[in-house]
Amino acid sequence: MEKKIIIDCDPGHDDAMAIILAASAVSDLQIEAITTVAGNVGVEKNTKNALRVCELAGLDDVPVAMGADRPLIREFLEASHVHGKSGLDGTDLSEQPFKEPVNQYAVDMLIEKLMASDGNITLVPIGPLTNIALAIRKEPRIIPKINEIALMGGGTYGNRTPAAEFNIYADAEAAKIVFESGAPITMFGLDVTLQVLATPDKLDELKAIDNPVATTVADMITFYAGAYQGQFAGAALHDPCTIAYLIDPSIFELDHVRVDVETKGDFTYGMTVVDRNGVTGREPNVNFAYHLNPDKFWQLFMDALRSYSKS
Ligand code: BDR
Ligand code: CA
Repeated sequence: MEKKIIIDCDPGHDDAMAIILAASAVSDLQIEAITTVAGNVGVEKNTKNALRVCELAGLDDVPVAMGADRPLIREFLEASHVHGKSGLDGTDLSEQPFKEPVNQYAVDMLIEKLMASDGNITLVPIGPLTNIALAIRKEPRIIPKINEIALMGGGTYGNRTPAAEFNIYADAEAAKIVFESGAPITMFGLDVTLQVLATPDKLDELKAIDNPVATTVADMITFYAGAYQGQFAGAALHDPCTIAYLIDPSIFELDHVRVDVETKGDFTYGMTVVDRNGVTGREPNVNFAYHLNPDKFWQLFMDALRSYSKS
């Protein structure tokens, strides 16, 4: 049976790749909706980018709903130094996407779809957690309806500050609500996502696939690799880890642990405090991904891109 998912995102090069992986023929996922949030760039640009990616990936019938334009409490903080001014620089995606966002606020769409479901929808947040937190606060009855939250965010170290990863740092108050909600969470933080680096040999393999989707992904990686130069061997494919896990969980190794989100520290705001050794004695709330099999990941990713048509 197909697994139903809602992707909550801020595309974003790696968000775009996550959508493309989910939409590919190797995926058994059914994308119920795509919701957008302020994150890498403003929510309007992220929404336009989601529509552009839908056009590329052939997601004609998937509704795209625009969500929160700012975090719950803190000021909006973007990551255009990583993804460019448009949020998806370096590609020649359509400037006039073929469809419009639906006329419904993403938070209301999340609530409506979850409440109408029989508990079989998995949420895939790959940007700041603002929409998910707002939905939980507005309608707490969605919590038992959530099959799983497979999210990209956090880690035992940071990339936005030494302690905090961007998606959590961008709206730590929202992340705290989600992590404390009681919904089952599977977390793909930097510990695992930095194990997926698109090194030059991977880029060559992608280019050789030679179909429009694979070529666009190669363009994305080429641009996005700029942000990783000097520090890592290639661009990290953070967000696609969530989708890879939903397609083939055997790629990852997970630990059921307690994770809390810091919202007060002068130096640690936005940190996910991962209790790997069980020292708090607190109830575990997260399946924490700490290792992945890179060969299996890349096999899946390349197969996904090969599954798109040549024209
Ligand atoms: C996360 O931040 C964003 O820039 C990426 O899209 C990813 O979701 C990585 O820290
Ligand atoms: Ca993202």
